[in-house]
Amino acid sequence: MKDVSVGICGLGTVGGGTFNVLTRNAKLIAGRAGCNIRITRIASRRPRTDMDLGDVPFSTDIFDVVNDPAVDVVVELIGGYETAKELVLAAIRNGKHVVTANKALIAVHGNEIFDAAEKAGVVVAYEAGVAGGIPVMKAIREGMAANRIDWIAGIINGTGNYILTEMRAGREFSEVLKEAQDLGYAEADPTFDVEGIDAAHKLTILASAGFGVPLQFEKGFTEGISKITPYDIAHAELLGYRIKHLGIARRRDDGIELRVHPTLVPQSHLIAQVDGVLNAVLVDGDAVGQTMYYGPGAGDEATASAVIADIVDVARSVSTGSQQRVPYLGFEPEAMEDLDV
Ligand code: HSE
Repeated sequence: MKDVSVGICGLGTVGGGTFNVLTRNAKLIAGRAGCNIRITRIASRRPRTDMDLGDVPFSTDIFDVVNDPAVDVVVELIGGYETAKELVLAAIRNGKHVVTANKALIAVHGNEIFDAAEKAGVVVAYEAGVAGGIPVMKAIREGMAANRIDWIAGIINGTGNYILTEMRAGREFSEVLKEAQDLGYAEADPTFDVEGIDAAHKLTILASAGFGVPLQFEKGFTEGISKITPYDIAHAELLGYRIKHLGIARRRDDGIELRVHPTLVPQSHLIAQVDGVLNAVLVDGDAVGQTMYYGPGAGDEATASAVIADIVDVARSVSTGSQQRVPYLGFEPEAMEDLDV
């Protein structure tokens, strides 16, 4: 069996989870990938004294990973915009495939990154950037490949959903947010969670894949949950509704609508039952009808599950030398003509 070499940049919540799952399940993952996936280098600006990395070389310079000629796949888990962009573009220039969980990076700089990747003939895969462990990008790209997708809607920020759920039980916003941070669910800057920015990043990516259009983060409407009071939550409940923070993307005659905001959902709807850090995404296709994808939206090993799914996809094409690429975005020329995004 061939070896495919993986270098991990970033050893925070998701980086740690990725190392642990790849190590623990190495054998079964190799069986599914058809090759051994070996972690041959790790770099993180903040070393983890609580983890045993075995004999894998470690450094605090993340660029060591992209400059290592032996690394086939760079796994970017540092988060943030600018350094991550520099790192990913350097990896692409060095002919390496990239797997990332960084939704902010993809939503804001994805068009440029995909363009560079296409020219270099490498893959940039980002399943873990959207809805944590739920394989919703794969579902849209592959499972729903036959469909014209008309709308996508869902709960796509675990921290926000966790806060709203716990507030319903009478807890304080700030106390629950602190807990979500301690559990590793929240973004490094938690205003991204509570002001809807993280959900808007994910919605941008979902809409781009679903409607086949370039990423257009700056054009959506974004409102978070920071103004929701216990009074709002109690009144919604009395009226038979539940407040859920939703991302909604809809194909319209005159363009694409992208919005993220708190929404009154009837208590009887499945989405109203999605509590805690769980996410759920509804995708409506003309052939299949409504489908729903549900599961953990954040967390170390849940997100690692999606990161490793992408590593397996990329490793399969590296090890077989196949030209088949993980489709990173299927731009639809017709959609581009018809829709003013
Ligand atoms: N902060 C994000 C969330 C992490 O709570 O959903 C997963 O993308």
